[in-house]
Amino acid sequence: MKKTFLYKSIKNEWQKVHSKKNNKKIKLHEPTFGVEEIFNFTKQLITTNVTMGKQVESFEKNICDKFGFRYAVSSNSGSSANLLMISALMSNLYSKRLKKNDEIIVPALAWSTSIFPLTQYGLKPVFVDCDLKTMNIDINQVKKAISKKTKGILIIPIYGNPCEMNEITKICKKKGLVLLEDTCESMGAKYNNKFLGGFGLASSFSFYFSHHITCLEGGITVTNDYELAEIMKIIRSHGWIRNVKEKEKWIKNYPKIDPNFLFVNEGYNLRLTEPQARMGMTQIKKLDGFIKKRRKNADYLMSLMKEFNDFFIYQYETKKSFHTWFGFTIIIKDLKIIDRGRLCNFLNKNAIETRVIVSGNFTSQPVVKTFKHRTVGNLENASKIMNNGFSIGIHQNLGNNEIKYIYNIFKKFLKRESLL
Ligand SMILES: Cc1ncc(COP(=O)(O)O)c(C=O)c1O
Repeated sequence: MKKTFLYKSIKNEWQKVHSKKNNKKIKLHEPTFGVEEIFNFTKQLITTNVTMGKQVESFEKNICDKFGFRYAVSSNSGSSANLLMISALMSNLYSKRLKKNDEIIVPALAWSTSIFPLTQYGLKPVFVDCDLKTMNIDINQVKKAISKKTKGILIIPIYGNPCEMNEITKICKKKGLVLLEDTCESMGAKYNNKFLGGFGLASSFSFYFSHHITCLEGGITVTNDYELAEIMKIIRSHGWIRNVKEKEKWIKNYPKIDPNFLFVNEGYNLRLTEPQARMGMTQIKKLDGFIKKRRKNADYLMSLMKEFNDFFIYQYETKKSFHTWFGFTIIIKDLKIIDRGRLCNFLNKNAIETRVIVSGNFTSQPVVKTFKHRTVGNLENASKIMNNGFSIGIHQNLGNNEIKYIYNIFKKFLKRESLL
C-alpha cells in the first residue's frame, strides 16, 4: 500500500490516541481494525459513493469465495442477518416457505435476536437444553422435541464451537426439517473441515465490533438457495426489486409502474454501506491470523487452567471441530464452594473483564412471556450456564504473558479462598 499523506496522517493520529492506552487490562474484546481499515474506509468516503453498491457486492463475493458459499446478502448487523433469513423463509414469494405456528427447535442458551425474528413472523420456538461441556444444543433433547408441527432446527454454535453437525444434518434429513445456522459468533469455525454456515439452508454472521472481524456494525446471510437469496435482497431494500437479477418477471406484469419503484414484498432498509464493505474486505484478509491467535491463546490457557478442573468446567472442543474461541468460558461447578460474584469482582479488580454467556437460559428472560413458545425438559444445563458461568477475553491481542497473568489471578483467588 502506498504510504500517502492521508495514510501517514491517520497513522499519526492513531498513535497519538492509542499510545496512552493502558495495555494491562485484559478486555473481553479489543478492536480488530486499525490504520489500514480507517484509511480504506476514508478513501471510500472521499469518493462520496457511500450507499450500497459495488463495494458491498465485492465484499459479499469475498465472503462467498473464502468460505465456499454460493450467495451472500450483507446487512447492517447480525440481528438483521437473522431477520432477513427468517423473513425470506416466511415470504409469500418463497416456494418452500414456512407457515405461521410452525415449530422451530432452538437451543435455550441463545442470543435474543436469534429468537425474535421467529416470533415476530409467527413461528413458534421450541427451547431445548444444551450440553454442559460443548454448550451446544443437546441432540437427545432435539429428538425429544420433534412434533408433527416441527419444521426446522435453528442452531447457535456457542462462542465459535461447532455443534454435532453429523447428527444434526442426519436428523434434518430423516425428518425433512429445514436447518438454519446462527453462526454470528462462529466465523471461520469448521466441522469435519467444512466451514460452519454451509450446512443448512441459510446462516448468519455478525460483524459487530467485538466479533472475529468487524466493519463497525454489520452482518451477512449466506445460502446456496438462489430463490431465497433473491428474496432477501428484496426485503433488505424496501421490498423493491431493484437489486435482484431477474427483474423482468415482475416488470412485465406491471408495465405502468416505474421498475425502480416496484415493490413486491414487505421490506426494510437493512443495507450495509460502501465504506463498511471496504473495511470488511480489509478485515477478511486478517481473519485467519486472528483465529490462529485465538486458538493458540485458548490452548495455552486451557493447559494452565486444567490445574483447577476440580472447580471449573471449560468449553470442550470435540475431535471433529475447529473452534474459533469468541471468548473463554468458565462454569463454576459448585456455587457453595465458589461464589460467582466474589470471583468476578476479584477478576475485575485485577483488570480482567468478565461477562455472562450469551443471553443465558433465554426462557428465564421476561420477554419470553410475551410470545408463544414451548420448552422441552427442565433446561438445567442452560440454567447452570446462566447462573454459574461467565466468560473472559481470549482475543487476538493477548499474548503468553497475559494468559499466564489470567491463570495467576485465578490461582491467587483460589488460594485466598483457601481452596488450594
Ligand atoms: C449468536 C448471536 N446471534 C446474533 C447476534 C447479533 O449480532 P449483532 O450484534 O451484529 O446484531 C449475536 C451478537 O453478538 C450473537 O451472539
